[in-house]
Amino acid sequence: MLINFALASLILAFLIIILWSFNSRQYKSSSTVSSSYDAWTNEKLLEELWGEHIHLGYYSKASKRIDFRQAKIDFVHNLVHWSGLDKLPKGSRIIDIGCGIGGSSRILARDYGFDVLGITISSEQVKRAKQLTSNNLCCRFEVMDALDLQFSDGSFDGVWSVEAGAHILNKQRYADEMLRVLRPGGFLAVADWNRANYKQKSLGLIDSLIMKQLLDQWSHPEFSSIKSFSHNLLNSQYCGGKIESDDWSKFTKPSWIDSIIEGFRRLDVFIKLGPKSFLQGMREIPTILLMRMAFGSRLMQFGVFRSRG
Ligand SMILES: C[S@@+](CC[C@H](N)C(=O)[O-])C[C@H]1O[C@@H](n2cnc3c(N)ncnc32)[C@H](O)[C@@H]1O
Repeated sequence: MLINFALASLILAFLIIILWSFNSRQYKSSSTVSSSYDAWTNEKLLEELWGEHIHLGYYSKASKRIDFRQAKIDFVHNLVHWSGLDKLPKGSRIIDIGCGIGGSSRILARDYGFDVLGITISSEQVKRAKQLTSNNLCCRFEVMDALDLQFSDGSFDGVWSVEAGAHILNKQRYADEMLRVLRPGGFLAVADWNRANYKQKSLGLIDSLIMKQLLDQWSHPEFSSIKSFSHNLLNSQYCGGKIESDDWSKFTKPSWIDSIIEGFRRLDVFIKLGPKSFLQGMREIPTILLMRMAFGSRLMQFGVFRSRG
C-alpha cells in the first residue's frame, strides 16, 4: 500500500516536472505576458484560490496568524500609507499600472475615494475587472501598455504599480512613463519583485538555475535590483525629486507558503474547475517554492519605491 502510494507520488511528481519544463511561459515580448494573463484569467484558478489580488500579502510583526487574502488587503493599505498616497484628497486621479483584475484599484476607489483608472496589457483581465467592479465605484479599466501610456504629461495625482515591473524588459521606459504621467507634487507608489544586486553577490550554478526558472516560468524578462530601479527612477528626465526605496521581503515572505496552503484549504475549487485545474495548480508549486527559497536566501528582494513628482 505504502509502496503504491510512494510510486504514485513519484509518477505524479515526474509528470509535473515534465509539464513544468516543456510548457514554459518564457518571456518573448509583451504579448507573451498578455497571453499568459489572458489564460490565467480564463482558467479562473488564480482568482478562485487567491482572490482578486495578484500580489503578495503584508504580514506585520505584530499580526498573529492572518489569512492570505486579508494580508493582501493589508498590503494595499500599507503601501498607500508608506507612499503618502493617503495625503491626497478624495477625487484625486490615480492610475494603477498593471492592475490585474482590479483588486488594488477597487480599494483605492472605495476606501480612499480616488478616481481610479486601472490599465493592464491583458484584455481578459480588463473584462474580468469590469465584471467585478460595481457601477457606483469611480473605477475604470482599459487595455494599455505601461510603456506607451496614452496620456499627456502630469495627468495623474498618483501613480500606483504593484508587481508589474518584473514583466517589463525596458525598465527605464517603465520608470519614465510612470513619472511622466505623474503631476508635479503627485505621489508615486511602486512595489516589485527584485533580484539581489549581482555586483555584491555573484551567482553560483544553483542560483543561476533558480533565477532562470523564476524568469521563465512566469513570463519575466528580467528582474531589476532595488538599487538599479531606484536609479532608473532617479535618472528619468521626469523625476521631480527624491526617490526612496525599502525592502519589504520580511513582511511579504510568508505569502509564498500561504499561497500553497490556500490550495489545500480550498480543495473544492479543483472539484469545481475540474481535474485539469489540479494539474495546473500542482505545476505552480515548484516555482512558488523556488520563489520562497530565493526570497529566503536574499537572492530575491521585495522592493517598494516612493517619490513626490
Ligand atoms: C503580478 S500581476 C499584478 C496585478 C495587480 N497589480 C495586482 O496587484 O493584483 C502583473 C500585472 O502587470 C500587468 N502587465 C505586465 N506587463 C505589462 C505592460 N507592459 N503593460 C501593462 N500591464 C502589464 C499584467 O497584465 C498583470 O496585470
